[in-house]
Amino acid sequence: MRILAIESSCDETAAAVVEDGRNILSSVVDTQIETHALYGGVVPEIASRRHMEAVVRVTEKALADAGMDKRAVDAVAATCAPGLIGALLVGANFGKSLAFALQKPFIPVHHIRGHIAATYLAYPDLKPPFLTLIASGGHSEIVMVRDYTDFEILGGTRDDAAGEAFDKVARVLGVGYPGGPKIDRLAQEGDPMCYKLPDSHIKDAPLDFSFSGLKTAVINLAHNAEQKGETLDKNGLAASFCAAVVHTLVPRLEMAAQRTHARRVVCAGGVAANSFLRAALQEMAKRTHTRLYLPPLSLCGDNAAMIGSQAYYEYLAGSVGLTLQNAFATAEI
Ligand code: KG4
Ligand code: ZN
Repeated sequence: MRILAIESSCDETAAAVVEDGRNILSSVVDTQIETHALYGGVVPEIASRRHMEAVVRVTEKALADAGMDKRAVDAVAATCAPGLIGALLVGANFGKSLAFALQKPFIPVHHIRGHIAATYLAYPDLKPPFLTLIASGGHSEIVMVRDYTDFEILGGTRDDAAGEAFDKVARVLGVGYPGGPKIDRLAQEGDPMCYKLPDSHIKDAPLDFSFSGLKTAVINLAHNAEQKGETLDKNGLAASFCAAVVHTLVPRLEMAAQRTHARRVVCAGGVAANSFLRAALQEMAKRTHTRLYLPPLSLCGDNAAMIGSQAYYEYLAGSVGLTLQNAFATAEI
């Protein structure tokens, strides 16, 4: 089954053709990063307009790269939630209209389910159940994937997502948007012991965490240094921050794996590209004899191939229909 998938939840307009949930026939990602970098973050109104401009071109390229005419696709899928509402509506309504015109099934896909499915594209042998750490710009959760469309959230952030914290810290350090890759690069040359940053503990919820205290600590350090005319060790602060994020996420994932007796662990989402997080997860997997599945960097950030993968399993589960576009509007995952 060949599914044409569209993704437009934030600042990437993407289209892909995926066969049977596992095989990428084409994947096109048109990023708006340069536009939003001018403003230091994503401007929702501009994002929607840019999706409007790009969606047809990107879809035509995905079909051409797959060597297919649009009439040859078996179904059309699109991300329907969560994300920036105006941005989502562009891709979701385009996908829905295309499915209507072609008289093919339409499959709405939850963005975070898509991030998890990115791992299926990289590892053909991976099947649920498995434990997942999902860390993106809007979400940070520990999720048990019981089946392809059956999820249980075991823990997560009480406030900011990990990616949000990376972006905020990058802004405070004046290194621009998007923050994650820039902080990662700065931290390569820094000492993680340089600054002492706070840890978070949520009473009676050991798998939950918080990034707002950590974020505020970095903001205060930067402001104090500015007021006193001191130079901030940006490399050291980036390294200390990366270490603090890793220290927040990895021990909780390990605890969740112990509690659920999970032997297979996945990490997905934009922050899964972080080199320190990847190294710490590899160390954890080795020490605990757990099999770790990390998508390649090209599949960590937003793309439509991951939506095409999850769409196949949603289709098999019967989640198909032109009126289902709001199916996930209130669902956590
Ligand atoms: O999953 P994603 O592409 O979009 C959302 O669904 O939010 O995640 C984007 C987030 C951004 O906050 C970005 O700064 C972060 O992922 N990110 C990283 C790295 N690459 C991207 N964070 C830390 N280290 C990285 N190397
Ligand atoms: Zn995403």
